[in-house]
Amino acid sequence: MKKIVAGNWKMNLNKTEAIAHFEAICQSERKTADVDLLVFPPACYLLSFSEKVEKASGNVFLGAQNVHYKNNGAFTGEISAEMLSAMGVKFCLVGHSERRQYFGETDADVAEKVSTLLQHKITPVICVGESLEERESGKHFEVITQQVNAALEHTNVKQLDNLIFAYEPVWAIGTGKTATAEQAEEVHAHVRKVLVKDYGEKAAQIPILYGGSCNASNAEGLFSQPNINGGLIGGASLKLDDFLSISESF
Ligand code: PGA
Repeated sequence: MKKIVAGNWKMNLNKTEAIAHFEAICQSERKTADVDLLVFPPACYLLSFSEKVEKASGNVFLGAQNVHYKNNGAFTGEISAEMLSAMGVKFCLVGHSERRQYFGETDADVAEKVSTLLQHKITPVICVGESLEERESGKHFEVITQQVNAALEHTNVKQLDNLIFAYEPVWAIGTGKTATAEQAEEVHAHVRKVLVKDYGEKAAQIPILYGGSCNASNAEGLFSQPNINGGLIGGASLKLDDFLSISESF
């Protein structure tokens, strides 16, 4: 199974900081051959980063934080999968809780985006996760099952090679409250079970990342769990040493 550490920069880093950080990641000798590093900078940096990523040592890939599911048209402010692909983008976040919460991204939107991205050979990183209220009322497995199934509504079994899931409990994102390794593993195992039930054994190969206050101190405990294949890192991905330390935590 591939090991993956993904950095979601969100809307952070000015131009000078962003270029310096990305170049440092590309040039670092601390990268290992068996870990893929995915970087999701703000969209305005993608085009210039695509040239740098080609010259990077090791496995660094460029990802986008969002996409529109239509191929073109009157959608002010949006970017299509074809446009992302032309900028060297290989991965795209879908269904991140911030997009669900602040920008009204629904399960139906997620399904459309996944389908469009796959058509353009961009790997969707599908984010699922329960709110604090849902966890406290014991509904988390139900919520996750629904989000996983809904995301794949337009996807067929042949496309599974090209998918990544990320379990990001909403209560752990940016809060400093990480899920324990056991809490995370329990949900990851559940996601895998749901995928295998619907799509067969082949789906057991889909990487499932953990996200939500994952950092250089807790990554090792999380990544040692059998169903946790890496991390989707927000805050800690903005610091070079933290990001690379996390990538060394397998
Ligand atoms: P965090 O964010 O690591 O800052 O909690 C994770 C994410 O939102 O992907």
